[in-house]
Amino acid sequence: MHHFQFRNGELYAEEIPVKEIARKVGTPFYLYSTATLRRHFRVFDKAFGSLPHLLCYSVKANSNLAVLRLFAKEGSGADIVSGGELYRALKAGIPPEKIVFSGVGKTPKEMREALKAGILMFNVESLGELKTLSKVARSLGKVAPVAIRINPDVDPKTHPYISTGLQKNKFGLDLETALKAYLFAQKDPHLQILGIDCHIGSQLTEVSPFVEALRRVKAFIKRLDREGIKIRYLDLGGGLGIVYGDEAPPPPEEYAQAIIEELKDLEVILILEPGRVLVGNAGILITRVLYYKETPVKKFLIVDAGMNDLLRPAFYKAYHEIVPVSLCKDRPNIIVDVVGPICETGDFLAQDRQLPLVKPGELLAVMSAGAYGFVMSSNYNSRPRPPEILVHRDQYFVIRKRESYNRLVAGEKIPTFLTEDSKLE
Ligand code: LLP
Repeated sequence: MHHFQFRNGELYAEEIPVKEIARKVGTPFYLYSTATLRRHFRVFDKAFGSLPHLLCYSVKANSNLAVLRLFAKEGSGADIVSGGELYRALKAGIPPEKIVFSGVGKTPKEMREALKAGILMFNVESLGELKTLSKVARSLGKVAPVAIRINPDVDPKTHPYISTGLQKNKFGLDLETALKAYLFAQKDPHLQILGIDCHIGSQLTEVSPFVEALRRVKAFIKRLDREGIKIRYLDLGGGLGIVYGDEAPPPPEEYAQAIIEELKDLEVILILEPGRVLVGNAGILITRVLYYKETPVKKFLIVDAGMNDLLRPAFYKAYHEIVPVSLCKDRPNIIVDVVGPICETGDFLAQDRQLPLVKPGELLAVMSAGAYGFVMSSNYNSRPRPPEILVHRDQYFVIRKRESYNRLVAGEKIPTFLTEDSKLE
């Protein structure tokens, strides 16, 4: 359910026609809906209402400060993976005691920042990281709260680039090594064992891999108990999928029920790190058709958004529905590639897609672009990144302005040996 709907053939974001926003801010741009973001958070949170739990929104999915603030106001914590995400989460008002720090490559600097901020816990992914964290904590005279991320070796049945819980993936620790890590932490005065963590992948469309992973984590918690190690927080990560096209992921209630059922006999506080399911369908990308082009073998719609703006189709061959912002009857359907201006053959938003024959100047909406959209954008081909707009009822707010050419070169410098008149040796 989202608040991008057609009324009399015009796409609206909540109470505003999208084409009106396009007229004011230009294209391309990302557009998010407050009501949708809120609804998604509340539905997900309510589904776990019968358990002690904490939602730590996965900041990487969409890290705009306004989005983070909205979730903070709903009571969300944050799942972060970098010092930059810590900075954003704190700046947006997410309380440090609701922040968990994931990721395989935390640097000592990032650990220091998180320890000073007083985050809830570090989800540690290797023995080396655990030892470094202990050293950093000692140097600050602090005790670092930790969970060990388990790799349960469960197939999440998703795209290989976004599956993380298989033994061959770089994430987490196998059970034997995890046990060693816990025993190490148990003896270390600068580490405090608080939890256990597991995240098996993203865009999962079935409940069973989550349940399977949870069963393995539960069995491991019992093993830890025998070693005298108590687990207070069980972090099950994120990963629940959304509808992009013809997927049928379980609704949050069904996902929650399966997890709640498994947790009946455990006294833990459940942490979840949802990302995509909260923001994915709460955002769209609006782009304008520049040209229509036919070759002897193909038809192309060339639009003003490219892979630098939305990488998912190029990177994962991900499907995003594309619809004209203004519907128009009696137009023939054509099969086209929707491509951007970037000098790469991989620069497409859709391939062999059936679309009405839209004309240059018309607007298209690329749906389900709220997660891993703007955050994965780049300046490739020196293209300023697009603005992000948040709609609230009948008002819209620029929550990140379009980048300027000036901003493109900010921080760059021509060294003096190149500015001098003398010829280069
Ligand atoms: N927790 C951890 C430790 C994660 O690595 C991730 C996502 C999440 C939570 C949130 O997962 P979600 O609920 O959003 O599935 N760029 C890819 C997705 C990469 C996901 C990375 N980790 C895409 O565009 O599909």
